[in-house]
Amino acid sequence: MNGPTRRQAADGELRPVICVVGARPNFMKMAPILRAMAAHVPALPVLLVHTGQHYDKDMSERLFEDLRLPTPDVNLEVGSGTHAMQTAEVMRRFEPVLDAYLPSCVAVVGDVNSTLACALVAVKKGVPVVHIEAGLRSYDRTMPEEINRILTDQIADRLYTTERTAQDNLVREGVAPDRVCFAGNVMIDSVFFGRANARSARDTLQACQIDPAVFKHPLGLGVVTLHRPSNVDHLETLRALLGVLSEVATSLPLVFVLHPRTRNNIERFGLMNLIDPARMALLPPQGYLEMLGLMAEATVVLTDSGGLQEETTALGVPCLTLRENTERPITVEQGTNTLVGRHRAAILGAVRDILAGKGKRGRLPELWDGQAAQRIAADMYPWLKQRQAAMASKSVAL
Ligand code: UD1
Repeated sequence: MNGPTRRQAADGELRPVICVVGARPNFMKMAPILRAMAAHVPALPVLLVHTGQHYDKDMSERLFEDLRLPTPDVNLEVGSGTHAMQTAEVMRRFEPVLDAYLPSCVAVVGDVNSTLACALVAVKKGVPVVHIEAGLRSYDRTMPEEINRILTDQIADRLYTTERTAQDNLVREGVAPDRVCFAGNVMIDSVFFGRANARSARDTLQACQIDPAVFKHPLGLGVVTLHRPSNVDHLETLRALLGVLSEVATSLPLVFVLHPRTRNNIERFGLMNLIDPARMALLPPQGYLEMLGLMAEATVVLTDSGGLQEETTALGVPCLTLRENTERPITVEQGTNTLVGRHRAAILGAVRDILAGKGKRGRLPELWDGQAAQRIAADMYPWLKQRQAAMASKSVAL
């Protein structure tokens, strides 16, 4: 641990908020929150903990740079493993951090294993838990993220939501409405923050030793990401999806940004031969500014990522989600997202419509305005002060 040393907070002084990040989609959510906590008057003291769930330079360090995230005060370096191993290891290594820093609360974002693991450790030690991006539900309990969402929301003390339906989901599950605050979408704060510095698709292709001229096409290009176990962990499913993508690539060149899990599986299953490199460029995981640039320039994005569904809506770019469900229904109802599942005809039909200029234009959902993190900091400060004062008077009474 290389963070500030343990000390008692002076009377009335707020103890640090431990902000947890673990995996790639956490970084763009936490960056604006840290900025807003620092900018709040008075500032909220923060300690940044990285669990190390994602550890590659491409999956972690580069995003820290692009999002101007500070170096974590503590890195738990848990790395990969089965869900049980990864979750247990985060819990085991996180507990001493709470003992050392006596935080005012633990703030977690999203739905990855690190989110649930740290929330669970905190709540059992009597430390309040704040969950940012609460209440999203796919109603598909085979998704590990859905389990992480449900359980984190059940034990969180303060829950910040990104869309109004999230509060309905929470209330149905017995969460008291006065714990929930509709704050908007911090992911979109990052889109607005990074947009001006996004790298061009041309530069990104060139940096990956791909000739951008080959991918210059009157219809533009499509951007693909796939990493959900349900799409990439089974030979037949992955083979079928690569087959459909190859068909799409005959009318629109594709840039496929590969998650390590997906690359490993394509190689392990011997499926590389399904990819024609003249029509489908394979890229390693990209930085935040590269991904923003690729998405902003795309004619269509094909993905199974939760984050990309929201980012494309913010950018006004049509998105085809290769899943049967989404925990982010507002991107379908108001944004540019269409659920196409893994159905060949649905995917090809939707791409055809988009290439014919009939793609969804969408609009920005309520409070996706770049100010969500500020609203969260403004709400959290008095809430924490109040809790801390209540705890102090309780211990005096004892
Ligand atoms: C995790 C999240 C998922 C999120 C995704 C974004 C959970 C349950 N899932 O899934 O919600 O959308 O991150 O990327 O937390 N690997 C590397 N380098 C890394 C990290 C991972 O090579 O830096 C490889 C390892 O082989 C590892 C595999 O990717 O086994 C999966 O990583 P893991 O963190 O377990 O889950 P993701 O599939 O990335």
